[in-house]
Parts: sequence; C-alpha cells; structure tokens
Amino acid sequence: MNEITPQYHYSLLSRNTFGIDAAAHCFIEYTSEEGLLQAIAFHRHEWPRLPLLHIGGGSNLLFMHDFPGTILHSAIHGVQPMAQEEDMVLVRVGAGMKWDEWVEYSLSRGWYGLENLSLIPGEVGASAVQNIGAYGAEAAQYIEKVECVDLTDGSLRTFDVAECEYGYRHSVFKTKFQGRYAVTHVWFRLSLSFVPNLSYHGLTAALEAQGKPSASLTAQDIRQTVISVRRQKLPDPEQLGNAGSFFMNPVVQVSLYNRLKESHATIPCYRVDDDNVKIPAAWLIEQCGWKGRSLGRAAVHHVQPLVLVNKGGASGADIRNLCSRVQADVLERFGIALHPEVMMI
Ligand code: EPU
Repeated sequence: MNEITPQYHYSLLSRNTFGIDAAAHCFIEYTSEEGLLQAIAFHRHEWPRLPLLHIGGGSNLLFMHDFPGTILHSAIHGVQPMAQEEDMVLVRVGAGMKWDEWVEYSLSRGWYGLENLSLIPGEVGASAVQNIGAYGAEAAQYIEKVECVDLTDGSLRTFDVAECEYGYRHSVFKTKFQGRYAVTHVWFRLSLSFVPNLSYHGLTAALEAQGKPSASLTAQDIRQTVISVRRQKLPDPEQLGNAGSFFMNPVVQVSLYNRLKESHATIPCYRVDDDNVKIPAAWLIEQCGWKGRSLGRAAVHHVQPLVLVNKGGASGADIRNLCSRVQADVLERFGIALHPEVMMI
C-alpha cells in the first residue's frame, strides 16, 4: 500500500520557527515506519543524487537557501507504556509527537521527570537528537533508547542511551551520524513518584517569588512555573520568528575564566568539571552591546540575547550576518568562540 504523498515546490515557511520563506524541491510527511521506508525508496529512485534531509518541528533550523532535494517529516504519533519496573515506567513515544504535548501527557498519567522541560518547542524525535535541556534537566536523563531508520539503506537500528553519546546539546546524531538516521520512536524511563528537580537557580527563584513552599510542590507547580518563566524570557515564535537559543553556552577552561574575571569581576559561570566552566553566552553578548540591537531585519532579542530573531522578512543570510557579527565581537573582546546551536542549511 502506498502511504506517502510527495509534495513539490513545498513552502517551508510553516516548517521553521524562524519564519524563513524557503522552499523544498520535494516534501514528504509519513505516519509509519513503512511510510518512511517508502519515502526513502521514492527519493533514491527519483533523485539519487539530490540531498535528503529529515526535519522535526523546525525549531533549530535556519534555511539559507531553497532546499534542492527531499525533506522528510515524521507524523508518527502514539504513546505506548511498555513496562513497569518498581517505581519506573518505560514508555515508547512516536518521534512526530510535539514535545510539550508529550510532557503534558506524561504528567497527566503520573509519569514524572519531564516537568522541567515544559514548553520547549519541537518534537520528540528532535529531543533525542539535540538532547534538549532547560532548568536543570536534559532529555538524555530520561531516554532509555532511540529507534531509528538508516536513511542510506532503510535498515532499522536501535541506539541504547550510552550509544547516543549524550552531552550538553550533543549526541552522535549531531556528530558522526549527522543526517544519517531518522528517529522513529524514543523510549523514556520516567518515575512514578515525584521528586522535584530544583537544581536551577532561576527556577527556584521563580518558585520562591510565587511563595510556593518546596515541601508541598507538585509536578504541575514546576511545569506552570517553567512555562511562565519561559514566556517571560523567550519570544513566542508565532509572534517573532526565532529558534530559541541561537548559540550554545561556551565551555572554557577555568584558567581562562579566572583571567577574564580579573578584568570583568561580574562574569558569571556554571561549573562543568574540575577544569571547565560554562559561561552564559547571553552575558557575553550583552557585554558586547548587542542586546536588543538590530542588523536589517534580524535582531538580538531585547530580553534574552542568546536568541536571534526575525523581525519580519529576514532571510537566512540576514540572520547569519548578525550571527557572524556577534561572534566576531565576542571573540575580539573575550577571546571566546561562540558556536551556533542552530543548524544552518
Ligand atoms: N544573562 C545575561 N543577560 C541577559 C540574560 C541572561 O547576562 O539578558 C545571563 C545571566 O548571567 C543569567 C544567565 O545568562 O543568569 C543564564 O540565563 P538563562 O537562565 O536565561 O539561561 P541561558 O544559559 O541563557 C540556557 C539554555 C536555554 C534554557 C535556559 C534555562 C542554552 C544554549 N540555552 O539559556 O535553552 O531555556 O538555559 O535552562 O544552553 C534553547 O536551547 O533554545 C533554550 C532556550
């Protein structure tokens, strides 16, 4: 049975949260593993030399040009509890489900762990590629394994969490296997008892400001507080095109940090290990005077300078120009290279 409907000269406007008006030569959305295999076979048969790209919710992408090949998108949904072990549950989730719908659903079932990751844009499949993180939690802490299809030959492969080589915004799917695998399902291991994760200062401060006593906190309290903090700090892509944090927070050696502290007494940092600290890129960008500044139709957000925004009508090149200018200034002033988290295509 044919499960796929290729769409040609497809506008990607609604497929990227930056709101870049690019087009794909061909776009195929599939709803099952079988559909994905058909889409791969179709592409290989029709255009063996053209590129194949798999996207998620488009919240970490910057289209620089029209895409000359086929773009695939998963609409595999569904949540299947697979096993229960003591007070943990193992759940298999379709890669095309919206991340925050999954978070909300998991909490409604009394499966805990993902509450700190509320309202992150994107889809379940991308969460396993990006190792999305916020407010003291990372997807990798809850992932058990990742089911994939190899786009080169259609074979199936399951990566257990160790094989995913997760780190800060990092996985094998972004490095040695970049572009090779399409995630079809992600298995999560969640807790049946709720223990609040209060490791992120910004979150505890917001909870305290609401007068929530930590002894009686519920997972919904955490979720609602994370949602309200995110809404205050981060622009809504529906209103202002953006892809969340444009840059990763740089990890630098403690020796460099100490040297910078001599001339910049207030420079903040988070400890990574004995030798390294993470410096908030937002602080570095603000110090360089970029907070709230525009370059043509692209701008550095006025509340969270880690976010670059499309003021309307910006091209991928406009955003990249702004990115380069910010990188150059931070490098010149602090000797630190900022690396984009957003993938430029
Ligand atoms: N800061 C400034 N000026 C500002 C804003 C922030 O100097 O205008 C400095 C402050 O020192 C502040 C620090 O940056 O304490 C950290 O700010 P924030 O708590 O907003 O977090 P972040 O490090 O800038 C990271 C993630 C976000 C995530 C938040 C909360 C990355 C690249 N970004 O941002 O993730 O929501 O922590 O956990 O790690 C995303 O990936 O799209 C994203 C939004």
